[in-house]
Amino acid sequence: MVKAWCMDDSQEDQRLPHKRAGDSDVSLEQLKDIGVEYFNINPQNFEENETLKKIRKDRNYTYMDRIECSREKLPDYENKIKAFFEEHLHVDEEIRFILDGSGYFDVRGKQDEWIRIFLEAGDLIVLPAGIYHRFTLDEKNHIVAVRLFVGEPIWTPYNRPQEDRDVRKEYVAKYITAA
Ligand code: LAC
Ligand code: NI
Repeated sequence: MVKAWCMDDSQEDQRLPHKRAGDSDVSLEQLKDIGVEYFNINPQNFEENETLKKIRKDRNYTYMDRIECSREKLPDYENKIKAFFEEHLHVDEEIRFILDGSGYFDVRGKQDEWIRIFLEAGDLIVLPAGIYHRFTLDEKNHIVAVRLFVGEPIWTPYNRPQEDRDVRKEYVAKYITAA
């Protein structure tokens, strides 16, 4: 099961959970309401996994690669980690399937609050195009993820604000201002 919560305002280490006290967790339905989709898939032999095959076929995720984020394995680690945590959006979906380790994807909720999503092995997440988000490792400083994409991947991040960009306007119309 996915674990997600609203974040506190503390400026402490981004790798800490930052769970706001007194709140209940954010549910899968609440994530769905902002366009975030979640699947659980066995990471073992995932290339042969029928659920994953079906997701890839249905959604045309033709591209797939693997990224390992740790000080040892990620080239230009410090700068990458910093860039990942800048609030940004993409003009395409961001799809990540976690094979090992763990980390936090933060997404903006309907009231522009930060929702932190904890992801570990077996979690597959789809962030819709146009959602503001960021990523950080947790205290274990290690994650291995599969990246999926429709066609040739373009990972370009556009840092906030991007209110005039079409993909942002479409996202806001569909998920934020829609009744
Ligand atoms: C990315 C994540 C870090 O854009 O949001 O790769
Ligand atoms: Ni991103």
